[in-house]
Amino acid sequence: MNNSITKLFGIKYPIIQGGMVWVSGAKLAAAVSEAGGLGLIGAGSMQPELLAQHIKKAISLSKKPIGVNIPLLYEKSQEQIETALALGIKIFFTSAGSPRKFTSFLKSHGAIVVHVTSSPELALKCAQAGVDAIVAEGFEAGGHNGRDEITTMSLIPQVRDIVTIPLIAAGAIAEGRTMAAAFALGADGVQMGTRFLMTKESSAHQNFKECLLLANSHSTKTFMKATTPVRLFINTFAKEIDLIEQNYHGTELTEKLQAHLGKWRAKNGMLLGDLEQGELEIGQAISLIKNIPTVKEVFEKILADYQATLKLLSSSQSF
Ligand SMILES: Cc1cc2nc3c(=O)[nH]c(=O)nc-3n(C[C@H](O)[C@H](O)[C@H](O)COP(=O)(O)O)c2cc1C
Repeated sequence: MNNSITKLFGIKYPIIQGGMVWVSGAKLAAAVSEAGGLGLIGAGSMQPELLAQHIKKAISLSKKPIGVNIPLLYEKSQEQIETALALGIKIFFTSAGSPRKFTSFLKSHGAIVVHVTSSPELALKCAQAGVDAIVAEGFEAGGHNGRDEITTMSLIPQVRDIVTIPLIAAGAIAEGRTMAAAFALGADGVQMGTRFLMTKESSAHQNFKECLLLANSHSTKTFMKATTPVRLFINTFAKEIDLIEQNYHGTELTEKLQAHLGKWRAKNGMLLGDLEQGELEIGQAISLIKNIPTVKEVFEKILADYQATLKLLSSSQSF
């Protein structure tokens, strides 16, 4: 495959592993880059010192391009960016904040900048801020997502119609057929989180991965729309959040949510495997995933299924 995304990053396939707090460290990012995609170290859950360790390890595991995802809602994002630049990282995916915040600074340091958006309006702002590419992420996606509930199917063509820079689709893309669908909608690349979480190389706890094998289409929901919307696996903690959301409003709701969230819920859930009281981020695509393969196996399967989908479409279009 050779298109604007493979050229931009110098990779073989336009497949990106989304940055994921507590899940995408050096091992996962390096495995994805080695397989021909673009691996991203998820800096969101890392202090700058830990991020430096992961970057050094990833570089030792793969000589192929590797990037860093910096969610801008954390206070250490500037330090994380400086740490990554100092270690030679040239690809930055920023998210959860304004694309204007660091784009010029990063570009003045010779970096490639991509920003994640969940609406056509923000996509336009990304292009105006001078980013090199956009990730448009639908409401089905795991992790933090848009308040507007715009699905991937609706979002990608809308964004394609208003921006000309390379476009990466995200949200419920976990197979060759959904990858083909994203390209049909106008995307130049795909970013996957949920599928890569369910691999041997991800640092999600084994309890979490195994419990997800039993997930179905009722297993996830977006919570905390009033504060920071996030798609979660529905466990005891998520049900408690649901109850708070039903019973409180306004500033009282915000306070109750903050108090219940406390600290380390996401770490305890995703990294340490507390399936009841931990926060477990995952996307709707989990209902399609019934195995925990290696990253290499994921690439082989997706690429084969993608080709099969194209063949099927070309042989069945005689209306
Ligand atoms: C466990 C988990 C953690 C995530 N953490 C982040 C993050 O730190 N920064 C970010 O930009 N996106 C984050 N995301 C979103 C992914 O990068 C990706 O865009 C999303 O998972 C794509 O949708 P999918 O889950 O349907 O594949 C996270 C997703 C998951 C599942």
